[in-house]
Amino acid sequence: MRFCEWRVLIDKYRGADMDALKLDTVRLSEDRSCLEILDQTLLPGTIKVLRIEKLEEIYEAIRFLRVRGAPAIGVCAAYGIALTASRIETQDYEAFLAAFREQKKVLASSRPTAVNLFWALDRMERVLLAQAGRPVDEIKECLFVEAQAIRDEDVAISRSIGEIGFGLMKPGNGILTHCNAGTLATAKYGTATAPMYVALEHGMTDFRVYCDETRPLLQGARLTAFELHGAGIDTTLICDNMASTVMKSGLVDLIFVGCDRVAANGDTANKIGTSGVAVLAKHYGIPFYVCAPGSTIDMSLAAGDQIPIEEREASEVTEMWYKERMAPEGVKVYNPAFDVTDHSLITGIITEKGLCRAPYEKAFRALGIE
Ligand code: MRU
Repeated sequence: MRFCEWRVLIDKYRGADMDALKLDTVRLSEDRSCLEILDQTLLPGTIKVLRIEKLEEIYEAIRFLRVRGAPAIGVCAAYGIALTASRIETQDYEAFLAAFREQKKVLASSRPTAVNLFWALDRMERVLLAQAGRPVDEIKECLFVEAQAIRDEDVAISRSIGEIGFGLMKPGNGILTHCNAGTLATAKYGTATAPMYVALEHGMTDFRVYCDETRPLLQGARLTAFELHGAGIDTTLICDNMASTVMKSGLVDLIFVGCDRVAANGDTANKIGTSGVAVLAKHYGIPFYVCAPGSTIDMSLAAGDQIPIEEREASEVTEMWYKERMAPEGVKVYNPAFDVTDHSLITGIITEKGLCRAPYEKAFRALGIE
């Protein structure tokens, strides 16, 4: 069974850039001159590889969701700052550190909710601090090595989450997911989709996936349906407001979602609409699992009400995907990009180190997540 191959998809979609055949969600070019990003704003109609190198371009790619999904944002920020720092022209450590911190501030302002962005940038800064006193050129090299490690670890982490999630699946299951916590949101496997891809690797194909389309940016329709369908998985796309009837009809046995930040008590910020799915799941008695890399768990926040929630442009709601504007000019629009699912609605949080059940803070600490 094939694993989410762009090669399979490329024949089906017009405007494809053949370079995409070899592309990850985000990677550093071989000559380390630029970042290569699969532009997710154009999917599924066009497969296009963006080559970007300037700080403002990397900021823009994250801000406008060309690269998105918490782990992928972290990987992009790590590669991005390794690249932009490599161009800082000084041999003086203190001057290098100051310029690095300026760049870090810019990238950190691109999106507020996914903690992986800050986690990755802080991890990169720690490398720089640990190497204090060494020649700047050597430190630049260490930053590239660290960024690559963050990317490689992400693959292993997603794979582990997939194994644990796979253990919860039974042949014939219907699985519902929201937004895109897939390969496109990580370096490989995804988080919520990892159990599905691992199932394929184990030769299990007898399961169905329902993808919420995920208004307003349609990550479920444009990205999750694209990658799961392309991987040969039995995939059904539904509008967000169909989830209740699909669950009531007995078509859903379990739910896997991703997350952008998990507070110490297990409250989970994920794409807008996730908390509604969790409420429905509780009503219909369907297990609701959050798939969370340790890097997405923010133990510095006691509860979900402390998680900053991104608000985005009104045009995403009123006109972005329509042929013409679908709301009166001047109407007020509220467009929070994430919501927080209360920990009481979550059956379990799957980390790469194990499956956590409430009380979550104790369970996280028991696994060494601090
Ligand atoms: O706004 P997005 O597309 O970055 O939101 C993405 C999500 O909410 C994902 O579910 C989350 O980042 C998990 S990615 C493995």
